[in-house]
Amino acid sequence: MEVVIFKNADKVTRRGAGLVAEMLGVKPNAVFGFATGSTPIELYRQLVDRHRKGELSFRDTTSFNLDEYMGIAADNPQSYRSYMNREFFDHVDIDKNNTYLPACENSENPQLVGPEYEASIRRAGGIDLQILGIGHNGHIGFNEPSSSLSSRTRVKTLTRRTLEDNSRMFSNGEFQPKLAITMGIGTIMEARRILLLATGKSKADAVAAMVEGPLTAMCPASILQMHERVTVLIDEDAAAGLKYREYYDLAHRENRALKERFGEFYASG
Ligand code: F6R
Repeated sequence: MEVVIFKNADKVTRRGAGLVAEMLGVKPNAVFGFATGSTPIELYRQLVDRHRKGELSFRDTTSFNLDEYMGIAADNPQSYRSYMNREFFDHVDIDKNNTYLPACENSENPQLVGPEYEASIRRAGGIDLQILGIGHNGHIGFNEPSSSLSSRTRVKTLTRRTLEDNSRMFSNGEFQPKLAITMGIGTIMEARRILLLATGKSKADAVAAMVEGPLTAMCPASILQMHERVTVLIDEDAAAGLKYREYYDLAHRENRALKERFGEFYASG
């Protein structure tokens, strides 16, 4: 894993946006894997900003979101489809026909949604760059602790912790789904490159477990230790639990120097 620690959350998202821009530079028709939640909101704002300045175009890209709630319609403001439209798709030139979420509202059998979603990802040529956040319990997508490390897109029941964490988004008495469809861990691991963003003190334990803890289904994000090209962008607060902090900083400096000497240089984890 390449672990890069920044002074603050703003620098984390700036670097994240920079990596998305680099991907578009290399591959204008890149296939992105997008996440929702609080963490990537600023990333989307920066990408929208750069698009408005004429620096970035998403015209030829395709995207697959990690997850979607079950039991609410796409046009419900709480759906992840609404979130993506509101925060990103409505403000850039991406063709919405090429933006996918694993929604099951029009499916007679939600169990068929997962395999169909996987087939769409394959048809698009696979995901070039997957953006991830991390849950306080170490989840990625909605793959909660104890999820199979080789799981595929499927229906998952959310843990009490995740429901509590996400309840801040719902008003009193509003229906909060307990089920979601999420890309599986096996699905996420097939992305060619993965970018995980985490900021804030509350993420420090999950980040430490992901980067330095044992590989275990009890911290689903720990599977990323097995991926060849993962970049973890975190701020000082989220890095607070890391024991090898000094090494990550050193490696980052060396990688930057290599990039200056040899051009684009992909740090391997
Ligand atoms: C969202 C998702 C989740 C979030 C995670 C962190 O699509 O898949 O795994 O990335 O719950 O959420 P925030 O960023 O709100 O802390």
